[in-house]
Amino acid sequence: MPPIADVVVDLQYGDCGKGKVVHSLAKTGNYDLVARYNGGSNAGHTIFHNGKKFVTHLVPAGVFHEIPSLIGGGCVVDVDKFLSEIDELEESGIEARRLVKIASNAHIVQSAHVEEELQEERIGTTRTGNGPAYRDKHARIGKRAIDEKRISKFLIDPYDAIWSQRGRRKAVLMEGAQGFGLDIDWGDYPYVSSSTCTVSAAVNVGIPPQSIHQIIGVAKPYETYVGSKKFGGEHPALLQIQKVGMEFGATTGRPRQCNWMDLDSLVRAANVNGVTRLIFNKMDVIREVGVYKLIVDDKIIDFKSENEFKDFIENFLKKSCPHIWTISWSESPETI
Ligand code: IMP
Ligand code: MG
Repeated sequence: MPPIADVVVDLQYGDCGKGKVVHSLAKTGNYDLVARYNGGSNAGHTIFHNGKKFVTHLVPAGVFHEIPSLIGGGCVVDVDKFLSEIDELEESGIEARRLVKIASNAHIVQSAHVEEELQEERIGTTRTGNGPAYRDKHARIGKRAIDEKRISKFLIDPYDAIWSQRGRRKAVLMEGAQGFGLDIDWGDYPYVSSSTCTVSAAVNVGIPPQSIHQIIGVAKPYETYVGSKKFGGEHPALLQIQKVGMEFGATTGRPRQCNWMDLDSLVRAANVNGVTRLIFNKMDVIREVGVYKLIVDDKIIDFKSENEFKDFIENFLKKSCPHIWTISWSESPETI
């Protein structure tokens, strides 16, 4: 039986709160499986679970609610990091060892890949070896999960993970990493990550496109980006946003450069992904800073109040994004 799937996808440059959204959706008890569909330990998903802060890099957020969780075939796995993440979660009472599976066709980040990136500065990568691992995958000289003995207990055939032989269709929540602006095809090349960060990567884990129910886009009412390109404006409020929003990399600790939200870019990302539900996180950050600006047509527009700002965004998106049914503004670190 084919699964039924909801997909969580980031519409900006990562760090929009996918971890929180997946954690919160998984809590509903509506899903049988949570599956990561791209990237590797370059990701840093900050999750507050029962008041405690966790940062996951590879393990999908289903484990916090005892839901089986899959690292899909489009991902790359650094085995040492994976095993220590499992250990850390176990130490906190999360049964990650029992719940996590790795698709046998996922690729391995090898130590040479990480070493190669130690001095990387051109793109400003997370230096986790992702780019070299994906390069070797596509050059057909990579190593796959099925060939790595240390994770043999975690392996599963990707088809068996998603499709059910008999009985009920599995309900799968797909967890993305990075974001549209970092996508290898749609992002600002070469300042991108090396994987596909759109819904098409979720499909490639093994779900037929017809099985997708909701596509949940996640964004912030401002933009952040980590990497080597110059990004953002000079307005002092942008520095305040960085501080108030604690915009520092969850994986590398680097400060995230901040800018006003570009609504045209958001529309492009929402439309390419077919977003049906859009969640804005961190509106409380903008409110605390008290400056309401965004970019349309490469021009900065200024708003007097939060309501004016939100109304403009909602009306703009309603006109420009035919698939979006719901737009919500989420502020709590644990719920949406
Ligand atoms: P890589 O994915 O480590 O190759 O890095 C490529 C670019 O993507 C760099 O600008 C990174 O800072 C950025 N990047 C990669 N993963 C994330 C993420 O999870 N959040 C935000 N930026 C990321
Ligand atoms: Mg992150």
